[in-house]
Amino acid sequence: MPQSRAVIARAQGKPVTLETINVPDPGPGEALVRVRACGVCHTDLHYREGAITNEYPFLLGHEAAGVVEQVGEGVGGLDPGDYVILAWRAPCGLCRSCVRGKPWYCFDSRNAAQPMTLEDGTRLSPALGIGAFTELTLVAAGQAVKVDPAAKPEAAGLLGCGVMAGWGAAVNTGEVKRGETVAVFGCGGVGDAAIAGAAMAGARRIIAVDIDDRKLEWAIQFGATDTINSRHGDPVERIRELTGGHGVDVAVEAVGRPETYKQAFYARDLAGRMVQVGVPDPAMTIELPMIELFGRGGALKSSWYGDCLPSRDFPLLVDAYLAGRFDLDRFVSETIGLEDVEEAFAKMERGEVLRSVVVL
Ligand code: APR
Ligand code: ZN
Ligand code: ZN
Repeated sequence: MPQSRAVIARAQGKPVTLETINVPDPGPGEALVRVRACGVCHTDLHYREGAITNEYPFLLGHEAAGVVEQVGEGVGGLDPGDYVILAWRAPCGLCRSCVRGKPWYCFDSRNAAQPMTLEDGTRLSPALGIGAFTELTLVAAGQAVKVDPAAKPEAAGLLGCGVMAGWGAAVNTGEVKRGETVAVFGCGGVGDAAIAGAAMAGARRIIAVDIDDRKLEWAIQFGATDTINSRHGDPVERIRELTGGHGVDVAVEAVGRPETYKQAFYARDLAGRMVQVGVPDPAMTIELPMIELFGRGGALKSSWYGDCLPSRDFPLLVDAYLAGRFDLDRFVSETIGLEDVEEAFAKMERGEVLRSVVVL
């Protein structure tokens, strides 16, 4: 059984450690992947903090690109040497959502059947069913999505989570169309990807809202046409001013807080769409007048992982990247080593980076 160096969260709030783990040879339906790059995402920090489950120890990392090392029995369409992005959604094809033709909601997404373990045999919980801050990882073959190997791993890997979530929130969930107006609340990696998606879809006005001027400058580079620092005034009023008094066709909430949810709700034009992609803490609540819910009409949607279909969307976005139409490199603030993940969490919390990416 192969061994691999890996970033492990052993206990709540404790710094992560670099340890040797055992990675099983791939069994039926599984693939062993040599990780080339893996981005540091908030969800990894949430795992470390115990905000997702308490099934320690966690093998962190889930925004990754790599090369297939070996495939298990019965795996078709995936071979050693294939360049892949790892997805945390691998539609089962059998659940009630897959069966009714909506595999992007799959309720029974596939993961490796065998556990990776610490050297003493302790079972690891891989972040989002992946676990990719490690040289080798074991996934369900369906989680390994083949893309053009010309794409740099540190850029391509980001499609595995945050960038896909944001792009898909605008394009798949919000269905932004040519000529529409869009507002994006929160301009981190997810929000900026929503901005880039809206720009690719042909939105005519893309309004970026954040409380950090540095983030707003970056948002412009992804295609925002206007920026609002909501620390200095009511963004809803300003959005109305920018849209002829009406509000936007699509408002994307990419923070995960009640105040930004409400701002997005009220920033819409009548019958506008709102997309929530920011993940709230379980204790958060919102209160809205029912008459406003009814009277404003439109749609209030949640976007799970950008409602993406990895096998459709990853190759499409990699091709757009290689054609120079989607600037994935701009999300990569720095490349780091496996030993730097803890420090990258601190930079992320200070808002200094869009993404730190571990390169192996
Ligand atoms: N109003 C506007 N912007 C805000 C506010 C606020 N009240 N609070 C925070 N922000 C901004 C931050 O300044 C930052 O630029 O929201 C952005 C959040 O970005 P990141 O922290 O980099 O997070 P990101 O990776 O983009 O994820 C955003 O989407 O998928 C979810 O779990 C993810 O909830 C998270 C959200
Ligand atoms: Zn399914
Ligand atoms: Zn993530």
